[in-house]
Order: sequence, then structure tokens, then C-alpha cells
Amino acid sequence: NLLHVLPPQGLLRPLAMPERLLLGPGPSNVHPRILAAGGRQLLGHMHPEVLQVSCPGPQVTAQLKAHQNLTLPLPKCLPGASVHELLKPPGEYFTPWDIEEVSAGHGAGWWVQAGPGGSHLLLCFTQGLVRHKPLVLFITHGESSTGVLQPLEGLGELCHRSVHGCLLLVDAVASLGGAPIFMDQQEIDILYSGSQKVLNAPPGTAPISFSERAREKILGRKTKPPSFYLDMHWLANYWGCDGELRRYHHTPPINSFFSLREGLAMLAELGLEKSWEHHQLNCAQLCQGLRDLGLELFVKEEKARLPTVTTVRVPEGYDWKEIVAFLMDNHAIEISGGLGPSVGEVLRIGLMGCNSTSSNVDRVLHALRDALRCCHRSRL
Ligand code: GLV
Repeated sequence: NLLHVLPPQGLLRPLAMPERLLLGPGPSNVHPRILAAGGRQLLGHMHPEVLQVSCPGPQVTAQLKAHQNLTLPLPKCLPGASVHELLKPPGEYFTPWDIEEVSAGHGAGWWVQAGPGGSHLLLCFTQGLVRHKPLVLFITHGESSTGVLQPLEGLGELCHRSVHGCLLLVDAVASLGGAPIFMDQQEIDILYSGSQKVLNAPPGTAPISFSERAREKILGRKTKPPSFYLDMHWLANYWGCDGELRRYHHTPPINSFFSLREGLAMLAELGLEKSWEHHQLNCAQLCQGLRDLGLELFVKEEKARLPTVTTVRVPEGYDWKEIVAFLMDNHAIEISGGLGPSVGEVLRIGLMGCNSTSSNVDRVLHALRDALRCCHRSRL
């Protein structure tokens, strides 16, 4: 025997994974049809069939875009920027007035973000010597840590006409497909999402789309981006968005793109408006059920509630960790606690894509009722 070290014993046992209903803020369950797509035999990333999946044609990017011609799925994204921030109380959203006022006060443009766990951050994106000159306003549409749906009306206009013509960048990771968003009408310049939420595909890919304004700005930049991985010149070429001969850039997670494609196909078959309606109705059923259990919704204004992730206050006399663990152990359902400053304050229940059904609402409410009966501190 030439080997002095045995293989890890765990690797010699069959892979065993439990079935769970993932009703946290994501990932959500992968639909069997999407699982099957991801399990298809691999192809090389330069094969024409993969190009069909990944660039204009009846496949992924065509489904991602209306008529933005720089739309592609990315396996990763690491922005580097200097930012300024402003906080909003958890559970609230920004109005264009908030942004304009703050911007005017500082003579700058802003980057608005939902902070990890509850607080919204308003960040100003500045660069080099041009201090407080806005480049980008960033805002999160589906704020999954607080359960807020950030209204986007007026923000594009604010960016393009009122505040130094900066770009509007929107994070729709937790909302795309589950709540209305209109890239063109809302003058969004850069819109991205994630595969693992409403699209019901495994985590790992991020569809991103650029308006013509953003495309010109990005492709016209004089300094090269710090990372070759995020060089949009290369990426646009690689995904066949520039009409030039494709050049190798990286080897992507091809099967993840098969899954993403299938998630988009299922959404296209259902129809966006139907999907928005399902999410709205099931969220409303959940909210009513939570109130009937005597629980308090975290987001007061109904129209500000994110239809994909509902936040509810942890009731007096309970430890959120006990409730989350109880649902997992006794009902095989994942829900989540808060994130950042909302830790300990809220429970988060996600209903996304194929998980957003009336029967899943009944299931999670039943499990919560059970948890409220069994997890009260006086019983533990
Ligand atoms: C992830 O998106 C989360 O909100 O936990």
C-alpha cells in the first residue's frame, strides 16, 4: 500500500440529503424541471449550443432582456467603489424626496442600499478626485432583511435629470419575478438578480442587464477595471453581446446556466403578471394568517411589504432561534431569523417562485402555530 493516509471515510458513504421546504429568504427550492435541466450532460463553454443558452436567441439573455442588448448571466460580481451612506430605520423605505434632500444637502449623488440586516444604507458613489460627484445611485428593490419593497418610481428620473445624471443601479435579487419592476419605464440603468430566489434555480448565477446609457458609460471608460473578471468589454464579447468573434474569458458554471435558463423559461410560460399576482396573493394570505396567530407584521404599510419575503416580529416570551429550530426539526421547514440589526427582532418567511403557493402558506402557518404552542419560554 503506497498511501499513508486513508481517504476521508465520509466520502465512502453515499451522499444523503434530507428533503426540506425552504421558506427562508432564499435559496428557495429548486423545481424538479429546473433540477433536471441542471443535471444535463455538460458541454464546453464555447460550444454553439451553450452560446444559444447564453446569448441573444430564444434562450437565457433573450429571456432576461426586453430590448437591452447587454444582458448576461454572471457567475460572480465584486464591485469596488468609494461610498457614502445614510441609514433609514429598518422597515422603512426611501422616497425620491429623501434622496433628493440628502443629495442636495451634500451636493452629491447617492448609493442606496439595504444594509445587512435591517437598516437601509444610503451610499454615495464617488470616485477619485471628483468628490461627491455621483456616478451611481444604488438601491435594493426587494429588501430581504427587513421585508420592504422599495418603490422605484421617480428614482431613475431623479438620477438622470436632477442629480448630475448618475446611473441608477438596482438590486432585484429577492424581487425579480415576484414583484413588478420595469427596467425601461423606471429608467433603471443596471439591474441584477440572483438565480436562487424567485427563479428557483441553484445559487451561483446572477443575471445582469445594462441600459444603453450604462453600456456607453461602461464601454467608454478610459481606465481599465481593476479586475479582468469584471471587465465588461471582455464579458460582453464572451457572451456574444458585441457581435464580434467570441474570445475565451473564463470557464463558467455551464450547468448552472442550464438551470437558470429553465427557471426563466418557467417564468415566461407562467407570465410575469401572473407570477406577480401569485406572489401578492400568497403573501396576503400569509400576512392574514400571521395576524390570526396573534403575531405582528414588521412592515406596517401594506404596499411596502415585499411579496417574496415577509417579516414578522418575534413574539414576547419566545427565542427566535427556538422557533426556527423547531420548524426545521419538527416540520422540515426552513424559515429564518433577522439579519444584522434585525437579528432577534424578526422572523423571515420567504415564498418565492414555485414555493409561493397557498398550500405552503398553510404548511408554514400550521408549523408556526405548533411552534408557538411548544416554544414558549415558560415551557422550555
Ligand atoms: C439573503 O438574501 C438574506 O436576506 O438572508
